Amino acid sequence: VLVGFGNVARRFVRLLEEKRVPLSLEGLDTRVVGIATRRHGRVLSPGGVDAVMLAGRVESGGAVGPDTDTAGTAATFIREAARRCAAAARQHRLVVVETTTLDIARGQPAIRHVRAALAGGAHVITANKGPVAFAYRALAQAATRADRSFLFEGAVMDGIPIFNLARETLPAATITGFRGVVNSTTNYILTSMENGETFDAALASMQRAGIAEADASFDVDGWDAAAKTAALANVLLGARLTPAGVEREGIRDITADRLDTARAGGRRIKLVASAERSGRQVRARVAPMELPSDDLLAGLDGQQNAIIVQTDVLGEFAVVQRGSGLTQTAYALLADLITVGRRMQRGSAPRRWRR
Ligand SMILES: NC(=O)c1ccc[n+]([C@@H]2O[C@H](COP(=O)([O-])OP(=O)(O)OC[C@H]3O[C@@H](n4cnc5c(N)ncnc54)[C@H](OP(=O)(O)O)[C@@H]3O)[C@@H](O)[C@H]2O)c1
Repeated sequence: VLVGFGNVARRFVRLLEEKRVPLSLEGLDTRVVGIATRRHGRVLSPGGVDAVMLAGRVESGGAVGPDTDTAGTAATFIREAARRCAAAARQHRLVVVETTTLDIARGQPAIRHVRAALAGGAHVITANKGPVAFAYRALAQAATRADRSFLFEGAVMDGIPIFNLARETLPAATITGFRGVVNSTTNYILTSMENGETFDAALASMQRAGIAEADASFDVDGWDAAAKTAALANVLLGARLTPAGVEREGIRDITADRLDTARAGGRRIKLVASAERSGRQVRARVAPMELPSDDLLAGLDGQQNAIIVQTDVLGEFAVVQRGSGLTQTAYALLADLITVGRRMQRGSAPRRWRR
């Protein structure tokens, strides 16, 4: 069941087709049974719908279903889908893929969507930062109680594995902190300004490319980075943060002169997101920082992102993202879907994962 059928979800349904063979090697045969949008109608058919055809229809200005199907909220739609697919839900075969628009103030209605899906016996996969940034602990607990998975690899760094990497590959290690560059738009603006472009021109080109939000403050004032920092801190460090709880300073006041002065001294300014545990507290911060040129984060150009993870046993390791886009985010959903499938086949209840 797809809740949200925008750029990411439409790329996802095509990727499901492109990866049909690897999916079948995993023992997975997928079927889209429902799609809910805000203004492009809804469709629900337990026998399956042709999601790729519907993606094309939406892209040519059409809707997935008649307007008459759009009554009620998407949470109501999820409850109805769970009722009509009750047998699949009982057999752990129902998955809700949540890709609605991020609401940076409260994380809603995505949090309600996740709750409705878990209550209906569905696993949940999302690329939306809202649920993890605002309600990770409560939703992880709800998933454990429901004996279902709640996965969100696409919420940070698109499909580059960070949550799954930490969960699957660091047994008995403790993550003590992280720092990184996690917002592509601001890194692109800073790099472009170093090369003589103006702040406004660089921002406009990110908006034209569909990377920056229409509301520039979301990226420029550090809100997107704060949401990602809260999500990472909640999951990797067991924090109980929301984006408002992350100390935040954006890049609005960074001038070309300041960037030039830093460069003359062999340094670069980056919008750095970081968090570290101190006793039982987790302190998280997003702020422009002057970094020496041998710092891995200083070497990130354009839209590149990276996270350096600090651990007790491995010291530091880094995950670097050189390319980003819809396919990467759609792949995060696909990888999470395969994780759900593997857990089903193992017959293992998803343990709540906590650091
Ligand atoms: N784009 C990326 O590269 C990327 C990367 C990482 C994470 N993400 C996250 O992934 C999510 C989806 O991104 P996107 O680029 O696909 O966004 P998008 O193109 O704007 O699509 C959002 C979809 O959600 C639907 N929607 C919004 N509010 C809804 C509601 N209350 N009930 C039902 N449907 C609702 C919209 O319906 P209408 O079209 O009818 O309005 C639309 O189909 C966002 O949370 C985003 O932050 C995106």
